[in-house]
Amino acid sequence: MVRRLIIGISGASGFQYGVKALELLRAQDVETHLVVSKGAEMARASETAYARDEVYALADFVHPIGNIGACIASGTFKTDGMLVAPCSMRTLASVAHGFGDNLLTRAADVVLKERRRLVLMVRETPLNLAHLDNMKRVTEMGGVVFPPVPAMYRKPQTADDIVTHSVAHALSLFGIDTPDSAEWQGMAD
Ligand SMILES: Cc1cc2nc3c(=O)[nH]c(=O)nc-3n(C[C@H](O)[C@H](O)[C@H](O)COP(=O)(O)O)c2cc1C
Repeated sequence: MVRRLIIGISGASGFQYGVKALELLRAQDVETHLVVSKGAEMARASETAYARDEVYALADFVHPIGNIGACIASGTFKTDGMLVAPCSMRTLASVAHGFGDNLLTRAADVVLKERRRLVLMVRETPLNLAHLDNMKRVTEMGGVVFPPVPAMYRKPQTADDIVTHSVAHALSLFGIDTPDSAEWQGMAD
């Protein structure tokens, strides 16, 4: 069976995380289904030089955020799960409370109800109690809360290194290995 991953990009800072996930998955035998929120489109325009179509071209399938009848809105459409990169606090809250108020949050809701893998690269700082409570709720439902915290032990040289390391680690949670998901070999004794 074909491996399928849903990539959600929501309106937190770090649109690049979603783009990096799509780029890394191009080299993998994984079918990608992309859904981008309206907030993410604002973040793209504000923070990056990417054109919308340039990003869409990286995915195998792109689903409009308002199309709650898309295939990924149904549990009968088999996937290996969903990565939301980055995940805004609004999207986190919607997932935590099962609102399914757009295609991105509906797809995440489906992934949770079908007991598939959901990884949320949540991005906000500092955090208020609503954010923390919502992360706890998603964790209790089986989702993985994965803030893209820089891994300094990997000695990143560029911002792109930092983004790549985080996304490669997040993809490894789906059993997807990339050249950037090398295991830590430990320090010399
Ligand atoms: C440039 C920009 C950066 C933002 N950064 C964040 C952020 O880091 N975290 C966050 O939770 N919201 C952030 N927001 C606010 C969200 O985009 C906003 O709450 C939006 O309603 C989220 O909707 P969505 O989850 O459907 O994308 C940002 C907004 C803009 C325009």
